[in-house]
Amino acid sequence: MLPRNAETTSWTEEVKAAMEKTVSINQLAQGIEPSLRSDKSDHYFNFYSDLFESQRQLPLGILEIGVFHGGSTLLFAQYFREAEILAIDINDPPQAFFDELVRLGLSDRVQFARVSQSDPQNLMAVVERHFADKQLDLIIDDASHFYAETRSSFTTLFPTRLREGGTFVIEDWGCGYWPTWPDGNPAGTDGLPRLIKELVDVIALPDRTCQEDSKRVLPTQMQLPSPIRRAVITGSIAAFVRSEAEMPGPELLFVDGPDGGSTTGLRELLRSVPAAFRASARPRIVRFREWSGRMGRRG
Ligand SMILES: C[S@@+](CC[C@H](N)C(=O)[O-])C[C@H]1O[C@@H](n2cnc3c(N)ncnc32)[C@H](O)[C@@H]1O
Repeated sequence: MLPRNAETTSWTEEVKAAMEKTVSINQLAQGIEPSLRSDKSDHYFNFYSDLFESQRQLPLGILEIGVFHGGSTLLFAQYFREAEILAIDINDPPQAFFDELVRLGLSDRVQFARVSQSDPQNLMAVVERHFADKQLDLIIDDASHFYAETRSSFTTLFPTRLREGGTFVIEDWGCGYWPTWPDGNPAGTDGLPRLIKELVDVIALPDRTCQEDSKRVLPTQMQLPSPIRRAVITGSIAAFVRSEAEMPGPELLFVDGPDGGSTTGLRELLRSVPAAFRASARPRIVRFREWSGRMGRRG
């Protein structure tokens, strides 16, 4: 642990030296007050350092969803040493967490707010109050681990509050395979595995429309106004990076057929679009070649 408060100013040089040697996230985790410590394993720490080591010194905007005793918040605040962190939970963390923030000199850049991840209106209000119009660099969801709640905060925040190139991490998605988990099952057809699959489907859109039977309507399940550039998925923890390309999700994709995309073909396609999709999206027809050109791919 690297104390930064006034009472330990005599340590400043030592702390500075330790910082300059770049203490690893695994080492920092060992220094968290034991009663508050996260139960994350080295697998998680390695995941974070693989993805974010080069961003540790940057003034990132971070939202952490799911605080519990605050061990991970204390850890991220020390790992991302210039970051501004908003940590949210439906329950308050213990007073010892707030005391520890003060003791470590972190309370100026770490705030806590009580709100549910599945309450889009209040979630947006809390984030706006804290970050104003600054886009977030990193969102970490280690909260409910349920499909509906996690999907809700993802679809609320990913398109609107995450900057292009920013990362949305979903932790513990593997618990959705546990038969004992409330929305889990070993086939992974519900719970967080279902959400991860839906997000993979979004990434795979170009390939899903490249069928040889030519005409297809975009079978989107996740209607995002911005696409996912890439995902890093490992057992239990996954990260989704927001694309810089602006490609609205709820478009209707017209895959150019042998008729070259005639009006008749488009009408046929429109008829095959489910009514629910037409109502929930603001459908626009895009020809596949046009769309794949925008995405930097060959049609
Ligand atoms: C696994 S714990 C978080 C652990 C913490 N990130 C750590 O590593 O020390 C999950 C937390 O999510 C919170 N939570 C559960 N459902 C939530 C919801 N709908 N919105 C926000 N937080 C929720 C719980 O209160 C609990 O504190």
